Amino acid sequence: MSSSSRDFEQLWADLVPVGRSAASGGYFRQPWTGAEVELRAWFGEQAEARGLAVESDGLGNLVAWWTPAVEPVETRGVVTGSHLDSVLDGGAYDGPLGVVTGLAAVDRLRERGFSPSRSIGVSVFVEEEGSRFGLACLGSRLVTGTTSWEQARELRDRDGVFLPDALERAGLSGGEGLPAQWNLGERVDCFVELHVEQGRDLVDRGAAVGVGSAIWPHGRYRFDFAGQANHAGTTRMEDRHDPMLSYAMTALAANKQARLVSTGSTSGGGSTSGGGSTTGGARATFGRVEVAPNGTNAIPSKVTAWLDARCDSEDALTTLIAEIERLAQERSGRDGTHLIVTAESVSPAVHFDQALAGRLAGVLGDAPVIPTGAGHDAGILATAGIPTAMLFVRNPTGISHSPEEHAEMADCLAGVEALADTLEELAR
Ligand code: HGY
Ligand code: MN
Ligand code: MN
Repeated sequence: MSSSSRDFEQLWADLVPVGRSAASGGYFRQPWTGAEVELRAWFGEQAEARGLAVESDGLGNLVAWWTPAVEPVETRGVVTGSHLDSVLDGGAYDGPLGVVTGLAAVDRLRERGFSPSRSIGVSVFVEEEGSRFGLACLGSRLVTGTTSWEQARELRDRDGVFLPDALERAGLSGGEGLPAQWNLGERVDCFVELHVEQGRDLVDRGAAVGVGSAIWPHGRYRFDFAGQANHAGTTRMEDRHDPMLSYAMTALAANKQARLVSTGSTSGGGSTSGGGSTTGGARATFGRVEVAPNGTNAIPSKVTAWLDARCDSEDALTTLIAEIERLAQERSGRDGTHLIVTAESVSPAVHFDQALAGRLAGVLGDAPVIPTGAGHDAGILATAGIPTAMLFVRNPTGISHSPEEHAEMADCLAGVEALADTLEELAR
């Protein structure tokens, strides 16, 4: 086994226990909390142990630079990396795999005796999942200026903690002037993110590594249903204004509409894109609900629910959201409740850079080229104009955002090799 394989296995072993729940085996690595702070410190130590120059910003985004021994021929570097934060009770691989393979790929290139003619950076973007402040890819949005600090500073977590206060408690100064500090346009030639696949395309094709073609457009929408609190036992069914009922019927309607789009039975979308599990044009999920006052023997006064919706085209997503909202408003009217829908996080369709994908295909041979319904920091950088590509590592079950998420060690090592080959090609 090459020493970089050992390196990968050691790096991976370091991470496994951090933020892991003994009850579920899942991970709670919410940004600017214990486990995630510990992981970012670990990354800095590992990078410094490799002689990489670590830069951080007021949010805790990190990039560790391998600067060429001789004057770099090219000023702009090649950056790889991903995120270390997780969803609630998430898997081990979503995010960290891209960060650890970045460090292991540097080890591998050095083992090969490669010396880059342009800098190679390994990055960590914070709050990619938006699991605490609700906005997906918050760190990379602020680095690229996709979201301004003026907008982001108003975000609050479920405990009502404002983002600046959470950062201050973590000893960080905030996101003032982030895009300028990173100066991506001048310093970054291209970005390549390796990620565990969150689907079954690769396992269905028998391939260990794939190349990303596109990211579906997707969004997160908050549905605020307001009703009339009342007694569960004495209020006749016909006299109720029950927001739980309006929500429940909306969840059913969302599921039905997404299925209709997926089977191409409605006007919006329905075109399949790519093979395997990404075929089928729509996804609609209510995974988070808050009920007030959440009592057993009272009709709720308010139900707040978050819809995660995704489609294989912008038009299909716009149509799907409009139809779900129309049906929800109609139901709310019938129930005598009141509904407000707010788009909290919207990510446009991403088509990765063709020329870069072509170079990766040249390096990786017959690696399948697959779309994904999952959002990534790579999508934010691509939308900000940085030529970007993604590599995916096989996930035997396709399950993700779950303690069951898994990737075989052999496939992770194949990912290290593929990333090392890619970085060698791009930083030659
Ligand atoms: O939700 C997503 O698409 C990604 O896992 N952040
Ligand atoms: Mn994720
Ligand atoms: Mn991810």
